[in-house]
Amino acid sequence: MNTMDEEQLDLYSEHLDLLARRWEAALAFAGFDAAIVVAGQPAEYFLDDQATPFRPNPHFAQWFPEDDAVGSALLIRPGERPKLYFLQPADYWHQPPQQPDWADGNLDLEVFDDPARLQEALASAAAGQNRTAFVGERQPGNLSIASVNPALLLNHLHFHRAYKSEFEVHCMKAATELAVTGHRAARDAFRAGGSEFEIHMAYLAASRQTSDALPYGNIVALNEHGAVLHYQHYDRDPPDQSRSFLIDAGGRYLGYAADVTRSYAAVGPEHERFSALVTAMDQAQQSMIREIRPGVDYLELHENAHRRIAEILSDHGLVRCPAETAFDTGITRTFLPHGLGHLIGLQTHDVGGLQTSAEGGHRPPPEDYPALRLTRTVEKDQVFTIEPGLYFIPQLLDELKAKDRSQLIHWESVDTLRGYGGIRIEDNVLVTDEGTENLTRDAFARHE
Ligand code: GLY
Ligand code: MN
Ligand code: MN
Repeated sequence: MNTMDEEQLDLYSEHLDLLARRWEAALAFAGFDAAIVVAGQPAEYFLDDQATPFRPNPHFAQWFPEDDAVGSALLIRPGERPKLYFLQPADYWHQPPQQPDWADGNLDLEVFDDPARLQEALASAAAGQNRTAFVGERQPGNLSIASVNPALLLNHLHFHRAYKSEFEVHCMKAATELAVTGHRAARDAFRAGGSEFEIHMAYLAASRQTSDALPYGNIVALNEHGAVLHYQHYDRDPPDQSRSFLIDAGGRYLGYAADVTRSYAAVGPEHERFSALVTAMDQAQQSMIREIRPGVDYLELHENAHRRIAEILSDHGLVRCPAETAFDTGITRTFLPHGLGHLIGLQTHDVGGLQTSAEGGHRPPPEDYPALRLTRTVEKDQVFTIEPGLYFIPQLLDELKAKDRSQLIHWESVDTLRGYGGIRIEDNVLVTDEGTENLTRDAFARHE
């Protein structure tokens, strides 16, 4: 069970006021008087009594930032204090969820030790209310609300989720602190010649997180594995020679995520070429962040990132053409096949990145950049990642080799770098009136 200190309690209470205003507007827009929001149930494996680690419905977690809430539910009715139906089952196989002290005075809390009784209470709250919406993965027991996850309501809420409350920013800073502690231990473990597994364990221990608690599975990639964007294994033994290290690993605090990537070259004259690329990418990433201010189009930031990658390819002798040609011919898309970044918050890839309005406006990514998850105009209080990459991905390099523009590539140079996998540098930034606050670099600087 999480606890909150005085400062957090104040922020939490203001956060709930903001949520109340948002839900009032969203419910009115979608034509509802109230909503029942359930935390949900863990998903059991097929023909098994074991389940996946539980992650509550994010619409529930935004009000009640605690994972240990299986079977609990909220009733949101504008004008009334949110009501929490808290399930604390009598169970001697497991530790039942603990009643949070921070709910006092903020939520109208009723505790149930029997899930059936809780569901009856929910059913009676919803009875005869045909303007009640249900928000959650599935309705428990005897609930049969007609409006399940109505799009008008969810779109409205998802659009506004991009703008973080002070409480949410506070949580994301705390999540970043955990991540940075882990990153520093991971870097030391890499420098000491550790295997992916050993580096991963060093990360978990230093950041005091279990793997279930992470916002996403750690990506711990030595050498060629850095070219696998979401590499998911942890080799138990170190490679014969560690040339490079890419670590994309986060932190989670009261449900909020940090998503951080760093790349390193091994020390030694034979690695200088890759090391120079890492330095260039690090500088480029910071110059991309300097472009951010309210009113800028995120798609433009993404396109400018490709222009910078084109310059790096040209400056480092990976292409035989000017940077402009590398950009215009789309060569950079082979080396950077993912988007520049995404919204982040309760979910690592937070919702609403392709919405242009709360009322349902939608802007899909352009055909040239199908993986881009954020096409919105940059605005104050948004938090998103900036994570340019430059990879040597065999599948994409082979595809490029078969095209006419293959002649623009300096293949001998590219081939010498394949064994390094790739580079990604990822920070989380909060948009301010003038520009950004870099949550990630600020935390690294505090640890110097
Ligand atoms: N860690 C996943 C991502 O960077 O989006
Ligand atoms: Mn990311
Ligand atoms: Mn990441």
